[in-house]
Amino acid sequence: MNTILSLFPNGTAVDAHGHLTLRGQRAGALAEQFGTPLYVYDVGTIRDNINAYRRGLERYSGAAQLTYASKAFLCTALARLLSREKVGFDVASAGEIFVARQGGANPAHMHLHGNNKTTLDLTTALQSGVGQIVVDNTAELDRLAALAETFDQTVNIWLRVTPGVAVQTHHQFTVTGTADSKFGFPLDTAADVAGKLLARAQTLRLRLTGLHIHLGSHFHDARPVAAAIEKLLDVAQSLREEYGWAMQDLCPGGGWGVPYHPADPPMPAEPFVAGLVQAVENGCRRRNLPLPRLILEPGRSVVAQAGVALYTVGARKEIAGVRTYVAVDGGLADNPRPALYGAKYSALLANRAAEAAVETVAVAGPFCESGDILIQEVALPRAQPGDILAVPVAGAYQLSMSSNYNAALRPAVVFLEQDSASLVIRRETFKDLVRRDQ
Ligand code: LLP
Repeated sequence: MNTILSLFPNGTAVDAHGHLTLRGQRAGALAEQFGTPLYVYDVGTIRDNINAYRRGLERYSGAAQLTYASKAFLCTALARLLSREKVGFDVASAGEIFVARQGGANPAHMHLHGNNKTTLDLTTALQSGVGQIVVDNTAELDRLAALAETFDQTVNIWLRVTPGVAVQTHHQFTVTGTADSKFGFPLDTAADVAGKLLARAQTLRLRLTGLHIHLGSHFHDARPVAAAIEKLLDVAQSLREEYGWAMQDLCPGGGWGVPYHPADPPMPAEPFVAGLVQAVENGCRRRNLPLPRLILEPGRSVVAQAGVALYTVGARKEIAGVRTYVAVDGGLADNPRPALYGAKYSALLANRAAEAAVETVAVAGPFCESGDILIQEVALPRAQPGDILAVPVAGAYQLSMSSNYNAALRPAVVFLEQDSASLVIRRETFKDLVRRDQ
């Protein structure tokens, strides 16, 4: 069981005057300085999360690389931070390659995903020297083989394998490893395709260096991942026996969950990684396989807890015997997760964080949809216009999935580091809304 404060970034407290503080800075003051809706990321928490992954990976006897799933949230400042921390990037489009490079990311430490990569995605990856292309299907394999010829380049590839293993997540939309998935090669097809690639290794400009799985996002039980690793190792073993192939890289994806709500259990990353390490080491030992490089690609568990969304309270609607709505100045446009997945959040009033809750309300956004409800039920003091609502665990898949619905201006983003708050993404302006219009 968590307390609501433990869902916030590390270093969050309530000061003597009842104000929520993030690394010693009042959340309310940040809201006043930068305006709302505001996304605040604590850099120290991102580093702590990376280090938890690192500690887990240190147990591995082979080589290991931590990469970050950029789709969870990406901007130049984050790419800069992660590059400095020597974290690689899982990118899923030419756009993500571009943004990561803006922050100085080394393309050699990137791998490119996608179930329908465009020619632009593939050529951008080849031209910039992306480390590995994770091939998803045979059509892509053929296209990539031709492009490698055109560019006169040898391209390292992994095959994305769909092992037919289910994980429990918050929504079926985030399950990817089952047979009925748009992603990847089914297990037997993967073995077949890999075999053909290895048989033609002398003539093809594609070099099969690894296998990849990603079972889903926001799961809490790692046992299915261990089971899927076993299946991958079976494929690797048969390819070794038949073609003498040595698997250089093994990537079991990302997907480890985080607590969003005080009722959720804590989900430390280190024991999760330790479990994966054990599964790979034991599986390789049993099959007499050399240890591959182990690559992880978490997104949510690196950035979710580091982010806090701050909103200003506005209207209030009390429907006797039904529900009270407290409306804030953001919602569906900056966080579509409640509407998409029924995701549950909690919140507190940043300027009255020590006050006892007196009522249970629904927090509504301002957008023209009845489904624009950020939180179905949360216990709060009686919220007044001007109060600042702080929503924790806002760092992943919110801004990266945000929109301009109702011509909303996308929020500003601030990074907190060593007592200073720096604006890393400015709030959109009206001009931004028409910038592409002809
Ligand atoms: N690797 C691959 C191939 C992925 O597709 C994903 C996420 C990850 C790694 C990172 O997963 P994570 O560690 O962040 O769980 N919008 C949804 C989540 C979609 C996940 C997409 N793929 C949500 O808000 O819950």
